[in-house]
Amino acid sequence: MRLLVTGGCGFIGANFIRHMLTSRDDVAVVNLDKLTYAGNPLSLSDIEERFGGSRYHFVKGDIADAPLVESLLRDQGVDAVVNFAAETHVDRSIADPAPFLTTNVMGTQVLLEAARRTGLPRFVHVSTDEVYGALGPEGKFTEKTPLAPNSPYSASKASADLLCRAYFKTYGLPVVVTRCSNNYGPYQFPEKLIPLMILKAQANEPLPVYGDGLQVRDWIHVLDHCRGVELALMKGEPGDIYNFGSDNEKANLEVVRTLLAILGKPESLIRFVADRPGHDRRYAMGFEYAGKRLGFAPQIAFADGLSQTVAWYRENADWLQAVQSGAYREFMDTWYEERA
Ligand code: NAD
Ligand code: DAU
Repeated sequence: MRLLVTGGCGFIGANFIRHMLTSRDDVAVVNLDKLTYAGNPLSLSDIEERFGGSRYHFVKGDIADAPLVESLLRDQGVDAVVNFAAETHVDRSIADPAPFLTTNVMGTQVLLEAARRTGLPRFVHVSTDEVYGALGPEGKFTEKTPLAPNSPYSASKASADLLCRAYFKTYGLPVVVTRCSNNYGPYQFPEKLIPLMILKAQANEPLPVYGDGLQVRDWIHVLDHCRGVELALMKGEPGDIYNFGSDNEKANLEVVRTLLAILGKPESLIRFVADRPGHDRRYAMGFEYAGKRLGFAPQIAFADGLSQTVAWYRENADWLQAVQSGAYREFMDTWYEERA
C-alpha cells in the first residue's frame, strides 16, 4: 500500500511514518509537508537514511496546492491519503486565525477534491476531540456528540470534518475521520503543554499555567494514537468517524506537578498566568465504538509514557535546539509577555 501522508514532519505525522515503516513491510510512504515552523525533517532523519529512495519519499509542498496534490496522487501510484497536515496550536489560532482556515479548511478541500478526481480508494482524515467543544464535570464525548467548536483552531478542524462528510455523502468518496484526545510523546513541538513545561523546568524558568490550572485533558501516548490511525486506515468503514482516547483525564496542574517531580524541580517554578480566551474546561473521549469496530485499545500507561517522554527530551537536546528557530521565539515571547 502506497500512502500519501501529509504533515509527516510534524509531531504525530513523524511518529506515524516511523511506526508504519518499521512495523510493516507492506507499506511505502510519500510525505508531503510544507515545513512550517512546526515541521522538522530532522524528526525523520533516521527514516530517510533507512528507507529513503525505496519505501520513503519526501516532497516539500502545500496541501492547498491543487496541481501538486493531484499530480502526486496520479504519478506516485497512491492507494490512500492520511491527512495530518494542519495548523495545530490553539493559542496561535487565537493570535491569528487566517492560516488555520487556509490550511485546515481549504487544504483539506483540495486533498478531498484531488482524491475525488483521481478515484482514490481510501482517505483518512485526522481530526480532534476539540471539535466537540467543552464538557462539564461529567460525561464523555461520543461520535454522536454535536459539533460545538470554541476556538478558531477547532472551528477550522470541525469545518474540515464537515467537508469530509459532504464528500462522502455527495460523491461517495471513501473517507474515514478519526478524532483523538491530547497526544504526548517524542518529537512534539515545544509550544504544547508537556514539552513546553519540560523545557522551562530544565532551564529553571517559570512554568506558565493558564487560569486556575484545573482544566482537564485526556492524555494519550502518540504511539497509541498512531496505532488507532493505522486501524482506521486498514479496517475503517467509509463514512465512519472513530474517537480515540486513553481514559486518562488529568488536570493541567497535576500534569505540571508530575513533570516537576520527575525532573526533580521545585513547585515554586509554577506561575499562574492570564487564562486562554475561550478556554475549554474539560475533554474526555468515549472510544467504545473504535474498540468494538476496529479493536482499538490504548496500551501505554501515562506514568510510563510520561517518564519516557521526559527522558527523550533530555536525550535529544539537539532536536530541541533545532526546532526553536527565530519564528518560534517570536511567537512565544509575545504570547507569554501578554499573559504574564
Ligand atoms: P504539528 O503542528 O506538530 O505538525 C503539523 C505538520 O503539518 C507540520 O509538519 C507542518 O509543517 C505541516 N503543515 C502545516 N501546514 C501545511 C500545509 N499547508 N501543507 C503541508 N503541510 C503542512 O501537528 P500534530 O500535533 O502532529 O497534529 C497532526 C494532526 O493531528 C493535526 O491535523 C491535528 O489537528 C491532529 N490532532 C493533534 C492532536 C495533538 O494532541 N497534537 C490531537 C488530535 C488530533
Ligand atoms: O485535544 C486535542 C488537541 O490537543 C489537538 O487537537 C491540538 O492540536 C493540540 O494542540 C492540543 O490542544 P490543547 O489546547 O488541549 O493543547 P495545549 O498543549 O496547547 O494545552 C493543553 C492544556 O494546557 C490546555 O488546557 C491549555 C494549558 N496550557 C497550555 C500551554 C501551552 C497552559 O496552562 N499553559 C501553557 O503555556
